[in-house]
Amino acid sequence: MKRFINQTVVITGAQGGLGRAAAERFAAEGARLALVDRDGTGVAELARELEASGTPALPLVADVADEASLAAAFAAVEAHFGQFNVLFNNAGIGGMDLRVAEMPVERWDEMVAINLRGVFLGCKHAIPPLTRAGGGAIVNMGSSTGRHDTLPGSAPYMASKAGVEALTKSVALQVAHLGIRVNTVCPGIIRTNLSLRQKDGVEAESFFGRFAQRIPLGRVGRPADVAAVVAFLASSQARQITGAALLIDGGQTLRRWISAPDLAAS
Ligand SMILES: NC(=O)c1ccc[n+]([C@@H]2O[C@H](COP(=O)([O-])OP(=O)(O)OC[C@H]3O[C@@H](n4cnc5c(N)ncnc54)[C@H](O)[C@@H]3O)[C@@H](O)[C@H]2O)c1
Repeated sequence: MKRFINQTVVITGAQGGLGRAAAERFAAEGARLALVDRDGTGVAELARELEASGTPALPLVADVADEASLAAAFAAVEAHFGQFNVLFNNAGIGGMDLRVAEMPVERWDEMVAINLRGVFLGCKHAIPPLTRAGGGAIVNMGSSTGRHDTLPGSAPYMASKAGVEALTKSVALQVAHLGIRVNTVCPGIIRTNLSLRQKDGVEAESFFGRFAQRIPLGRVGRPADVAAVVAFLASSQARQITGAALLIDGGQTLRRWISAPDLAAS
């Protein structure tokens, strides 16, 4: 499938686990890529790798929480490629060990600024170029941890990710008449540094292996699993989908207390 030939796809948080997998997927499907991240070394390396395999790739250093920085990066995309067709608002930070009573307000503000304000700013500065391109798609990064699942110690993460779903629905309604679709992806646990960092010091295989046993489909998600869904939502195959929040969690959130005594399902 080559669904993105002659299209420019912008990915924030591009050099992380899920951003990189999405970049590789869109590149394989013919897209030109703008790679936005606050880690300049990482995006420059990724852009070099993609260029070497024939994909035009523009590395851009920006902080998604800082309006001037993100607006400048998005302006550079249109200046460089001439158009802007898809945005994957993916940049985010984790942190599941933050109890509200002990949480410095700066920690709350930082997480909400990156995970929620960053998505708002991405939508805000993508809508004008997407409109000029005659329409397009935005895929926002939510999480199963938010509206669908609960973890103690993750209040700002949950609030920011649930906020992304609400923001997405409002923006989807605002821009539908412009031919712009806006959806959220809600991954469960996926093998990346972000999920592994939640348990510093624990060896990766045993950490993810324990999760796999609790996931109905029996495996922890891979970044490519999320990339496939992001590409679908960004493609014309999803032309009738907007305002949706799609779980990618192997059934992780199907497990509830009420199903625990059901031996057939355990
Ligand atoms: N890995 C999981 O299990 C999982 C599950 C659900 C949702 N998510 C979400 O997926 C997204 C990507 O996560 P990941 O697992 O790839 O993490 P990661 O840490 O591998 O990548 C995150 C990337 O975002 C960048 N970034 C962070 N703050 C930024 C900022 N202010 N401006 C620009 N770039 C910034 C980082 O430099 C990094 O490249 C996050 O929003 C995360 O909340 C991850």
